[in-house]
Amino acid sequence: MGDFQNLISIHYLTRDDIDLILDTAADMESVAVERTQEFSNKIMATLFFEPSTRTRLSFESAMLRLGGRVLGFAEAGVSSAGSKGETLADTIRTVERYADVIVIRHPLDGSARVAAEFSKVPIINAGSGSEEHPTQALLDLYSIRKMKGKIDGLSISLCGDLKYGRTVHSLGIALARYDVQVKLAAPPSLRMKPAIIDAMREAGVDAIEVDSIDDALEGADVVYMTRIQKERFYLEQDFIDVRGQFILNESLLPLLKEDAIILHPLPRVDEVSAEMDDTLHAKYFEQVYNGVIVRMAILKMLLS
Ligand code: NCD
Repeated sequence: MGDFQNLISIHYLTRDDIDLILDTAADMESVAVERTQEFSNKIMATLFFEPSTRTRLSFESAMLRLGGRVLGFAEAGVSSAGSKGETLADTIRTVERYADVIVIRHPLDGSARVAAEFSKVPIINAGSGSEEHPTQALLDLYSIRKMKGKIDGLSISLCGDLKYGRTVHSLGIALARYDVQVKLAAPPSLRMKPAIIDAMREAGVDAIEVDSIDDALEGADVVYMTRIQKERFYLEQDFIDVRGQFILNESLLPLLKEDAIILHPLPRVDEVSAEMDDTLHAKYFEQVYNGVIVRMAILKMLLS
């Protein structure tokens, strides 16, 4: 992948890198259906120290469709890192001897970068604390491009927990590579990190903070909803204070552009009500499948 041996952060990807990944993903659409044995001699390890449904299973599905094999664990408790106090460095120095590529999700910011320092095989960041989730951002961009036909020129609203949500951090950095308008809608205590807003503005993106979901919906081509990241709050009261705000339900439908799409990395709690699912705007379950396609592209680029 360009000069990259790993996929750790969107910060390391140029616009050309991202476009190449999205183009490679488009080539994977047919491979995903027909399947291939291309990587029958390759093994992918998934080290998930935090819960996951889509990210882990879509990586496994991607590798299986490419003909590869998979191994790994889905919770920290069953690994020596969880119950015996093994360091991440030692876990990586072990697993690199079992697999050709390692996919890691870990509660600490910077964990994927640390893993890459100790690994001789490619590391893919599948979520590092509240910091980043680069493969999710790539599948989000791929979904936008596939559904809207382009990324440049769109008005994209990121809504919900912009402070602790790692998907919106990676997506925000990625959108700085495009010619877009970005609206950031969050409760006051969960606003987007200033560094990411600055990066967008320095890159020429028209990034504006709004404080209501109504403002976020108005004129948006893409509405990207996120879950309040309950598990990242230090005090439960702080979570209770913000939950239930920024809910997208049928009463807000008149505010949406006719062809606006609603995306969500999932899982959702209550921020997009189920009554939205049957509207033409709801694209979050189609977005799920794009995770397989984009992760096939990433694996192909790192393993070839
Ligand atoms: C997200 C995550 O883990 O950051 N889920 C995902 O990978 N699709 C979003 C979330 O947990 O809210």
